[in-house]
Amino acid sequence: MKNITVIGSGTMGNGIAHVFAQYGYEVSLVDISAEALQKALQTIDKNLSRQVAKGSLSEADQAATLARITTYTNIEEAAPKADLIVEAATENIELKKKIFVQLDSLAPAHTILATNTSSISITQIAAVTKRPDKVIGMHFMNPVPVMKLVEVINGYATSAETTETILALSKNISKVPTAVNDYPGFVANRILLPMINEAIYALYEGVGGVSEIDTVMKLGMAHPMGPLQLADFIGLDVCLYILRVMHEGLGNPKYAPCPLLVNMVEAGHKGVKSGIGFYEYQAGNKELVVAPRFR
Ligand code: CAA
Repeated sequence: MKNITVIGSGTMGNGIAHVFAQYGYEVSLVDISAEALQKALQTIDKNLSRQVAKGSLSEADQAATLARITTYTNIEEAAPKADLIVEAATENIELKKKIFVQLDSLAPAHTILATNTSSISITQIAAVTKRPDKVIGMHFMNPVPVMKLVEVINGYATSAETTETILALSKNISKVPTAVNDYPGFVANRILLPMINEAIYALYEGVGGVSEIDTVMKLGMAHPMGPLQLADFIGLDVCLYILRVMHEGLGNPKYAPCPLLVNMVEAGHKGVKSGIGFYEYQAGNKELVVAPRFR
C-alpha cells in the first residue's frame, strides 16, 4: 500500500488523512469544495502542532506529513492512483452508493474500497460494485489522531484477504483494529447510541439535569465526556440518524429515538457544529455552559 485516497475532508476525512500521512503514506484528499480542502489542511496543521507541542512529533515530521497530502477536487484524478480508498463523505446511503459506483469504475482492480460509515450497511454499499469482496468498513473514532480504535467491519461478501490487509494496515498507523460483522450499528454504535439515547430520556423525563447526568457518567464511570456532551460532540443529527438505522434495521422498539432528540434536531440544535445542543458553544470558550432551555 502506497497511496491512500480519502474521500471527504470534514472532521473524519481530515483526521484519517492526517494519520495515514503521519505514518508515511502518500495521501490524496478529495472533496468537491476547494474551500473545504483548504480548511482541512489548516485543521491538520493545527492538530499536528498539538502533537509537536507535547513532544510526540518533531517539526520536521510535521512538515513531512503535510507534504505527503495532495488535495483534489475531482475523484477522476485521484482514484486511479489509489491502493486503498477510504470514503468519509456525508452519511447518506444514496450518496455513498453513487460514490462507490464511481470509485469501482475508476480505481485499479487491486484497490480496496473502504467506508468510514458509522451505521450504513457495508453489504448494501458493496452490492453496487463489481468487487464486493474488496469492500469493507473502516470506522475511525473522533478525534481520529487521538482515538486508538478502528472498527473493521466485514460485509457479507468481504474476503478474508481484504480483512487481513486492513487489520495489518490499521496496525501500521498505530491503531488497534477490531474485526466485527455487518449488522445495524456494528458494535461501537450498537452499544454507544442506546446509552446516549437513555441519557436523553433521563433528561426528558426529569430524572436529572444536563450537568447531573453527565457528571454521574463522567465521575461515576470514568467516561472522558458525559453522554450528553458526547452526543453534542458527535452531532445530534448523526445520533438520530444512527438510532433510526438501528430501529429500522433491527426492528426493536428499544432503539426508538427519544422525542426530545428528534425535536432538537428538527429545531437545528445539532450540538457543537450548530453552536447549541445540550450545551452552548462559543469559539474560544472551553467552559461547558448548559443551553438556556435546560438551565
Ligand atoms: N488531533 C490531535 N490531537 C488532539 C486532537 C486532535 N484532533 N484533539 C485532542 N487532541 C489531543 C490534545 O492535544 C491532548 O493531548 P495531551 O493530553 O497529550 O496533551 C489530548 O488529545 C486531550 O485533548 P484536550 O486536552 O484538548 O481535551 P480533553 O482532555 O478534554 O480531551 C477528547 C478531548 C480526547 C476529545 C476527550 O474528551 C475524549 O476522549 N472524549 C471522548 C471521545 C469519544 O468518545 N470519541 C468517540 C466518539 S464516537 C465516534 O467517533 C464514532 C461514531 O460513529 C459516532
